[in-house]
Amino acid sequence: MTGTPQGERTMLRVLEGEAIGPPPAWMMRQAGRYLPEYRATRAEAGSFLDLCYSPDFAVEVTLQPIRRFGFDAAILFADILLVPDALGQGVRFIGGDGPRLDAVRWDADLARLNAAATRPKFARVFETVARVRQDLPRETALIGFCGAPWTVATYMVGGQGSADQADARLWAYRDAAGFQRLIDLLEDVSVDYLSGQIEAGADVVQIFDSWAGSLPDEQFRRWVIEPTRRMVVRLKERHPAVPIIGFPRGAGVQARSYAAETGVDGVSCDTAMPLEFVARELSGHTVVQGNLDPLLLVTGGQALEGRVGEILAALSPKPFIFNLGHGIVPATPPENVARLVELVRTGAQR
Ligand code: CP3
Repeated sequence: MTGTPQGERTMLRVLEGEAIGPPPAWMMRQAGRYLPEYRATRAEAGSFLDLCYSPDFAVEVTLQPIRRFGFDAAILFADILLVPDALGQGVRFIGGDGPRLDAVRWDADLARLNAAATRPKFARVFETVARVRQDLPRETALIGFCGAPWTVATYMVGGQGSADQADARLWAYRDAAGFQRLIDLLEDVSVDYLSGQIEAGADVVQIFDSWAGSLPDEQFRRWVIEPTRRMVVRLKERHPAVPIIGFPRGAGVQARSYAAETGVDGVSCDTAMPLEFVARELSGHTVVQGNLDPLLLVTGGQALEGRVGEILAALSPKPFIFNLGHGIVPATPPENVARLVELVRTGAQR
């Protein structure tokens, strides 16, 4: 382990394969409803999509958790569903009900989607990236992101979030060639979207495959590993130096083949991945990120301290980025997040 010279982005050094102590830390959904300043900006912006597409507001909410907690990385404020929205599929966020989309169910529905239509909306996101990069402290990395084709497709086909992603899985079984066309479209658009974010100033990109865990064997290979692998090849052609993190949530033992075959530089591990498995099967082969249970940030106290200590002991001897196993939940007291950052920075010694 080595120390950190002033002004260096530790997250990038770790993604080059260096173990750094204390490890860099950021949190999925670090900007969001648990922060009063987010709720205030959100109310001012009007709708959630207006917040995402207005650089003034999106820059502000991206920076809020950095000011408050001094994380080692900022993540662009946006959403994985901006891609279907920009493609022309109606996307709405109504109340606290989660997203609603005009479902795409058949090959014929794909005609409604238009890759060229994404440009003006993506341009606003790229402006946010450029402005955030200018305003961030030099040592803070900026993460761009998109949803993986499979996960975005589950929302596009289901028309909303679902517990089992049945609509997308059924389409994939019944008409693999038609479903492949949707995946290919998402792959093309997402490569351009991430490239634009990188060109605007993102230092790292993360591909969120939140529903990777619903697919077995060949389905996992075809709809999770293959589209991600092709995206990585194409992004590396354009931007060889920019690291890519994948988040195959729920992949379980399939995380091994995901890490080995997609070409991602780092794998973000979800809450349920046993530390012993991660340490033995992933650490040292890829850069590991994760995986504190976000609910421990709601409770805080000794349960939080104990688990942070276990994660650091198991994973931080190898190249490691501290994070949660899924996003921060709205009920999280901000002071527990501050305590977590302190625990990681002091090695969780009590
Ligand atoms: O992490 C960050 O701080 C950056 C911003 C970010 C958001 N969504 C903001 C958001 C990121 C990286 C995402 C990713 C995202 N969005 C994923 C992948 C990660 C995961 O959570 O599994 C998924 C599946 C989505 C889709 C999505 N967006 C859903 C299902 C919902 C509704 C559920 C909820 O938490 O409200 C959203 C809305 C959303 N995205 C909010 C935020 C801050 C809350 C909206 C609000 O303020 O009203």
